[in-house]
This record gives sequence, C-alpha cells and structure tokens, in this order.
Amino acid sequence: ERLVDLLRTAPKAELHIHIEGSLEPELIFALSQRNGIAIPYASVDELRRAYAFSNLQSFLDIYYAGASVLITEQDFYDMAWAYLLKAQADHVIHTEIFFDPQTHTARGVAMKTVIDGLYRACQDAQAKLGVSASLILCFLRHLSEEDAFATLEDALPHRDQFIGVGLDSSELGHPPEKFARVFARCRELGLHLVAHAGEEGPPEYIWSALDVLKVERIDHGVQSTHDAALMKRLAAERIPLTVCPLSNQKLCVFPNLADHNLGRLLDAGLCATVNSDDPAYFGGYMNDNFLQTFAATGLTAQHAYTLMRNSFEASFLAPAAKRAML
Ligand code: ADE
Ligand code: ZN
Repeated sequence: ERLVDLLRTAPKAELHIHIEGSLEPELIFALSQRNGIAIPYASVDELRRAYAFSNLQSFLDIYYAGASVLITEQDFYDMAWAYLLKAQADHVIHTEIFFDPQTHTARGVAMKTVIDGLYRACQDAQAKLGVSASLILCFLRHLSEEDAFATLEDALPHRDQFIGVGLDSSELGHPPEKFARVFARCRELGLHLVAHAGEEGPPEYIWSALDVLKVERIDHGVQSTHDAALMKRLAAERIPLTVCPLSNQKLCVFPNLADHNLGRLLDAGLCATVNSDDPAYFGGYMNDNFLQTFAATGLTAQHAYTLMRNSFEASFLAPAAKRAML
C-alpha cells in the first residue's frame, strides 16, 4: 500500500550501523575457509540458529566471535561492499558506518588493513552506487581508556579516512565518564563525537554522554523516556537519537516491537531516526526496520516523513550537502 511504498522508496540516511554487524553468516563461512580460520559452528544454519539473544552481552559474545574471520584488506572491503549494496537497495543515499578497530588489532590485524579496506569500499560506493558513505571509529567501552588512547594514536595517520569517534560494546558498568579524556582529545582533533547511551543503561549515562563526553548524537537513547527532564532537553537542543528498533526487539530492550517507544520519542519532538545497528544479526536492514516497526506500532505517513528528514538533519553531512538531500 502507499505507506509501505513510501517507506521503501524514500531516500534516507543511516547513522547507526556497525559494519561488523553486517557480516552475514554466509560471508563468515566463506572468509573462514578463505583464511583457514576455524569457527565453532558446523554450518551456516547452525550459526544462524545461535542468533537468539537475551540481552546486549549475549549478542556481543557471538558478534566478536563472528568478526574473528576478518584478516585481509579485501575481507574488510568485501564486508563493507556487501552492506553498501544492501543500503543502495533500501534507498539509503548517505550512511555513517561504525567500525570497531580494537576487535581486529587485538588479533594482530593492522589498523591500516582495517581502515584501508573499509575506506576503499566507501569510495567505490560513491563512484559506483551513488551512495555517500563515511566512517566512524568506535572505542570498545569494556576495554580501558588507555587502550582507547592507544587505538586513537594508531588511527591518527588515517585521520582523513574517518569523520568521528563513537563508544560501543557492553554499556552497563562502563559509564561515559570512563572515556572523558580520550573524548576531550578527539574533540580537540576536530572529530565528530557520538556514543551509545541509554540502550540498556540508565538515563544518567545519556546525561553524562552529553555533558562529560560532549557528544553530538546519542546512539539508541531509548531509556530517555524514563526521565522527563532529559526528554525536554533532548527535544529543546534537537540532540539526535539513532534508534534501532529491530535491535531493541532482538536484545529484549522491549518485550515486543509493538511496545517500542519510537512513536513517543517523535511525538515528544525529539530528533529520532531509524537505523539497523547489526542487520546480519537482528533480522533486517533499513527497510526491514521501517516496515516492521510501522506495521507493529501503527506509526503514520507523517511520522515517516519526519524520520526521513531527521536522518539527514542528524547526519554529519556539510550543511550544503544536507540541504541538497532534504
Ligand atoms: N556493538 C555492536 N552493536 C552494539 C550495540 N547495539 N550496542 C553496543 N555495542 C554494540
Ligand atoms: Zn549500536
């Protein structure tokens, strides 16, 4: 029907996608054979059956295991290219892609291998698919701030190949304050700043992501509805939330998709967006997120227009490029 067509074909921006979370089971198996790296699953089907999660940590364990097959520059290219083709098919015309270098450098893969492979795919996306794509380096919050500083140093020779930094992995017990100094340094370097906050963690983590880390966007942020003062601030300052509905459903943040608070966030005037997070693990790319969420929650065409507009407003595109896409 008309709303479904609108959701499918509308030009949109994706702002919360972990490239390692786009690694499909088929590609995990292909790379495990190509690189001679054993994985503890006998088949693609057996691996996919393991994708039943109870919370964030139960997902992260299997997500880091899946990423262990990535070794060469071409592996990183192939992973990103597969995602960019899906993005194009879903009418994503701009995407800001997270990557987790520590997952790879800890296994002996060079920073240059990771970034060069991903960056080459982003360049080809613009040239061959008409999709604009940039990279955001994420620090793993379960590791130390010292490790994050070393990762930043390692990445600085590639400063022109990524536009910002983020903070991801296990949220509970790893508050934003842990990374205050490394984010201050990134800010001095002119990098864009984002952080996961209020996915499973409390509204206090959203406050400190804003006030201590000084991030420009909050990734997830769905726990903000428990704090009226925070909701007011997010709306007044138009601080974007990159919401990931299918992720929230699969990680049991909400019992059912129908219980998702996206409609509440939008109706309260927040700059919320829809994103896929880890599409290979959570059952869908951008359009699956839009279609399933709208079907389950009864959002309207007006909400759809707002979400598409929000996705470009919240992007790190230059103002002129933003206007051109709006
Ligand atoms: N890394 C990949 N996906 C993530 C998520 N949803 N939350 C935190 N860290 C992640
Ligand atoms: Zn995420």
